[in-house]
Amino acid sequence: MSVTILGIETSCDETAAAVVTDGWRIDANVIASQVDLHARFGGVVPEVASRQHLEGINPVIAEALAQARIGFTDLDAVAVTMGPGLAGCLLVGLMAAKTIAMALDIPLVGVHHLEGHLYANFLVERDLPFSLLALIVSGGHTDLFLVERHGDYRLLGRTRDDAAGEAFDKVARVLGLGYPGGPLLEKAAQEGDPEAVALPRAYLGEDSLDFSFSGLKTAVVTYLEKEKRAGGAVTSLADLAAGFQKAVTDVLVDKVMSAAERFQPARIVLAGGVAANGFLRRALEHRAAEQGLAVTVPPPILCTDNAAMVACAGYYRYLRGEFAPLTLNTTANLPLGHA
Ligand code: KG4
Ligand code: ZN
Repeated sequence: MSVTILGIETSCDETAAAVVTDGWRIDANVIASQVDLHARFGGVVPEVASRQHLEGINPVIAEALAQARIGFTDLDAVAVTMGPGLAGCLLVGLMAAKTIAMALDIPLVGVHHLEGHLYANFLVERDLPFSLLALIVSGGHTDLFLVERHGDYRLLGRTRDDAAGEAFDKVARVLGLGYPGGPLLEKAAQEGDPEAVALPRAYLGEDSLDFSFSGLKTAVVTYLEKEKRAGGAVTSLADLAAGFQKAVTDVLVDKVMSAAERFQPARIVLAGGVAANGFLRRALEHRAAEQGLAVTVPPPILCTDNAAMVACAGYYRYLRGEFAPLTLNTTANLPLGHA
């Protein structure tokens, strides 16, 4: 018998609902982005975001069911992001999920947002071989996990300051590129020479699998200020963007490859919004191939926030019988995994 799960994601600035069958078949994947709404503020305004989720959540769920050509009674479970994220935003999705679960008397499944990102890879390849070495790079996280079986996440390293996506957004802002920074910076970098500007890379010691991007961000700011003092911009925006993108990519790829050497995974998986970055994807694939390792990366639409990934992660929790009580609460800074 097949299992049809409704996924709901409202942790940040996308109101999303999806229907996924048996953890891999995407019957619907609806994403209402609030990007235009927040663009004039230069970033996500939490209170504005939660109000927008409130307006969007019911129509988005209705649209997902319509696209999947099913009704509420065809659902076997509802999976929802329970954290981490913006508290007021998470609550909107959780309340919708609880209501549906209670009204239909079907299981409620709480999903960790990063677990969702990771599971986007199971929508690409259902039988990914374990163990997986997973790099999750988003606006709020830069985490490296070793996953030896479903639901078991060993944290190998994480950022000590800025997340990779956060660094992209901040540098895009100082370069005057606008919001959201990641995709705009990638576009600006296309015409640039990544070697034109020397920017620092933080490795934090030989064995460390942790990351740090705040020094790089500061280096870009300092560089720009110095040029201004010297009488105007000499370096092109494209060169600076390309140099920054390469510096981030070099560190991410070097750390993943050094972890791969240590832990000998069967596959490398990339996930999270920054995984939509073509330069990073190609660089990691290239370096991994040299070591005879394959990399799985979701298509960009499944890298950034969506609910199909939540429904997929929810499916594996459902199989393990990990149902949440209707008293489930959201946790803004929910951790994932173990040391
Ligand atoms: O996973 P996500 O959609 O939301 C969070 O969970 O944070 O990630 C959003 C982050 C933002 O920082 C955005 O700038 C970054 O992912 N991002 C990118 C690209 N597309 C999105 N960064 C670099 N290159 C991209 N193409
Ligand atoms: Zn995310």
